[in-house]
This record gives sequence, C-alpha cells and structure tokens, in this order.
Amino acid sequence: MPPRPPTFLITAGPTVEDIDPVRFISNRATGKLGFLTAQAALAGGHRVILIHGPVPEEVERSLPARTAGLMKVAVRSADEMHRRVQRYLQDAQVVVMSAAVADFTVEAPSNAKLKKREAGLNLRLKPTHDILAELGEQKRTQRKDLVLIGFALETGRGSTEQARAAERLREAYRKLTTKNLDALVLDTPAAMGADAAEFRILRAARDEGNQQRLTKRLLARRLIKLGRELWLERQHPASH
Ligand code: CTP
Repeated sequence: MPPRPPTFLITAGPTVEDIDPVRFISNRATGKLGFLTAQAALAGGHRVILIHGPVPEEVERSLPARTAGLMKVAVRSADEMHRRVQRYLQDAQVVVMSAAVADFTVEAPSNAKLKKREAGLNLRLKPTHDILAELGEQKRTQRKDLVLIGFALETGRGSTEQARAAERLREAYRKLTTKNLDALVLDTPAAMGADAAEFRILRAARDEGNQQRLTKRLLARRLIKLGRELWLERQHPASH
C-alpha cells in the first residue's frame, strides 16, 4: 500500500509584537505565499495545518476555515506562533516556514498606553525563539523524518548588485546549513506583498538552478512538489 501523503504544516504572514494596547512592531509580510502554498497542498490531496499571523482580509478569505483537509490557526505574536507550531508538529511531516516571524519582541509591553515624553522613548527588545532553528534541532534528534523548508529574505550588502547578490546567496546557504533545512527559498523585500518576484530555491544536497522570476502561485506549487519529493526520499533513503 502506498504511504499516506504527508501532512503539511505551513506558517504564513507577519507576527505582531505589542508595545502597548494601541501600538505594535510588525513587518510588511501579507501571507499571500503561505496561503497559496496551503491551497496548492490541499489541491494535491494533502492535509494542511496553516498557522498564520494577522493577514489582510482578502488573504484570510482566500482559504475559508471550513475547507476540507484544512486546520487553520490564527496567531498574533512570534511566541504564540512558536507554541502553536510545537503543539501541531506531531501531526505534520513537512514544514514550510514562510511566515515572517519577528526576530525581536518587546521586553516589557505596557498595559497602559505610553505617554508622549520630551526625552523620547527607548524600547528594550529581546530575541524571540527561532522557530525554524528549533525544528532543525528536533529533526537532528527525535524527528529524523521531518522535512523542513525555510525562507531567507535578504538584501545583501555591497556597492554593486553583483556583490549584494553574492552575499544574499552566502547568507541563504548559511541558513540552510545552520538551521538544518532540506530546502530554502531565497527572496528579497521586493517579494513582500507582490504577486510575482525573483526567487531561488536551494536544496541541501544540490542547487535547484538559477534565480527565476515566478508568480507566487507557481512557486507554491513547486514547493509542494518539492516537499513531497523530499518526504518520499526520506521514506526510502537508500534509493537516493
Ligand atoms: N524564522 C523563525 N523564527 C524566527 C525568525 C525566523 O522560524 N524567530 C524563520 C522564518 O520563517 C524563515 C527563516 O527562519 O523561514 C529565515 O528567517 P530570517 O529572519 O531571514 O533569518 P534569521 O535566522 O532571523 O537570520 P538573520 O536575522 O541573521 O538574517
């Protein structure tokens, strides 16, 4: 009997870190790619756990909660996303970590609205859990079956585009290795909110070719195909 198709755990959208009851720190992610990836997985007959931060209403509506095969979980902060990912991990075999998780959160959020002050305001931030790095560690130890696909959003530094592109690639490979991932999608801030952008898919064992301009819909389908292939390889390691 063929093995049951893997369940995908997909994270999407930004996280939001509260400063006080009216202010927060977040980023420009819209969740479009994560939601499209969830749709592609469902269309491919996979069960999907979609854990997402606050996304625009049209993105939210693109995948109703009652969709068959879908478990949709809304979160707000990086800490909440971390807890939900760990809670649902046991039910998933492939993780696609497309959420733009905050790297820092406010050390002491205020219950009362902060008052304007002549002297300005210093906010102390503390690092959040690196959800993906923790999954990489779990894959090394107790979850050797897990397939991990991550993202690296890079600008690169340098005075020429060539220098910046080289640094983006170096950083992407560094994240692929240090977070113990099976594959990683390299993109730039231009992808945020766009329908199409330049993407490059890197695999731990081999490069998936050059940077390409792709619609997010097409990238989503490729990621599901890749996740399934990597998972199959994991089932029969000797034949690859
Ligand atoms: N990520 C995560 N948890 C975090 C931060 C990031 O799981 N607290 C995941 C993202 O979902 C993405 C990947 O890690 O798949 C890369 O995130 P990025 O912020 O680019 O990488 P960092 O490890 O934070 O590296 P740096 O800040 O040095 O660029």
